[in-house]
Amino acid sequence: MPAPDLPTQVRPADDAGIAEAARLIRAGQPVAVPTETVYGLAADATSGEAVARIYEAKGRPSFNPLIVHVTGIDQAERIARFDPAARALAQRYWPGPLTLVLPLREEAGIASIVTAGLTTVALRASAHPAMQALIAAAGRPLAAPSANASGRISPTRAAHVLDSLKGRVPLILDGGQTAHGLESTIVAVADGEVRLLRPGPISAEELGAVAAPTPERIVAPGQLASHYAPAKPLRLNVTEAAPDEWLIGFGDIAGDVSLSRSADLVEAAAALFDLLHDADRQPAARIAVAPIPEDGLGAAINDRLRRAAAPRPEKS
Ligand code: TXA
Ligand code: MG
Repeated sequence: MPAPDLPTQVRPADDAGIAEAARLIRAGQPVAVPTETVYGLAADATSGEAVARIYEAKGRPSFNPLIVHVTGIDQAERIARFDPAARALAQRYWPGPLTLVLPLREEAGIASIVTAGLTTVALRASAHPAMQALIAAAGRPLAAPSANASGRISPTRAAHVLDSLKGRVPLILDGGQTAHGLESTIVAVADGEVRLLRPGPISAEELGAVAAPTPERIVAPGQLASHYAPAKPLRLNVTEAAPDEWLIGFGDIAGDVSLSRSADLVEAAAALFDLLHDADRQPAARIAVAPIPEDGLGAAINDRLRRAAAPRPEKS
């Protein structure tokens, strides 16, 4: 992926630093920010293009659902549906190193690239004052994966972020070394059952004591992320659609709809999951997608499209 070459500022996570970070977030840029686990690369979770720029900065060749960071349970309940078990966990461990995967409220306004098209959303209220202040100042929930380039380990200091993302992000807020140095515990809560998806600072035993009367109700480890795929067959690199195909265009290939008429890969990444869902709802029996270049975000878009096009024995 060609390296974007931005000047990267590193500044303390003080009031002035937070104000500048919030300004960049509102302008659709990703900013690195400390949490108590690892540094995150945060962007406006309500803007698909802002979130696409996280992938562009990380050079990540595939889309994965991201954690949405909130200030606490009030903001979280506007984004996802909490059952009593989820509420008990949030009350006990938030703010803190616990991420809850819960059913997404469709009206929440979270961009579909954040959940990679899934109907669940991962939510976390970090205890770090910098993340708390940034969400409040930006006035919106923030999508943030760990702030490392693809293939590098998660950063626990601003210097690690700089090593990995220098020239790729405009600002790194320096909050010193993170407390845990290990990513948050992730659990999915559905129908009162708590599934451990990723072990982390909060153990399965601790979760079990809060969320369920018996430890057997913690099922561990679960599948980390199942992926959204359209229900219909999908054909790639199509320049001319067959009569029964709904063509998703790109650039010069107009299609029935277009990922980006101007061949802008940030715009295309932001639109991808919405247009796949939309294609599933059309009367046409099959979906076709125009060729997408492999460079930059194109690699992640093509990775997702190839998975969607691969024959699936059964859907889960
Ligand atoms: O400590 C942390 O959790 C850090 C800080 C920055 O918050 N973040 C982090 O994010 O580790 P990331 O993107 O590197 O890992 C998030 C994990 C991914 O493995 C993803 O598959 C899973 O969360 N995930 C997100 N949404 C999901 C969903 N709806 N269902 C299942 N898994 C999900
Ligand atoms: Mg990571």
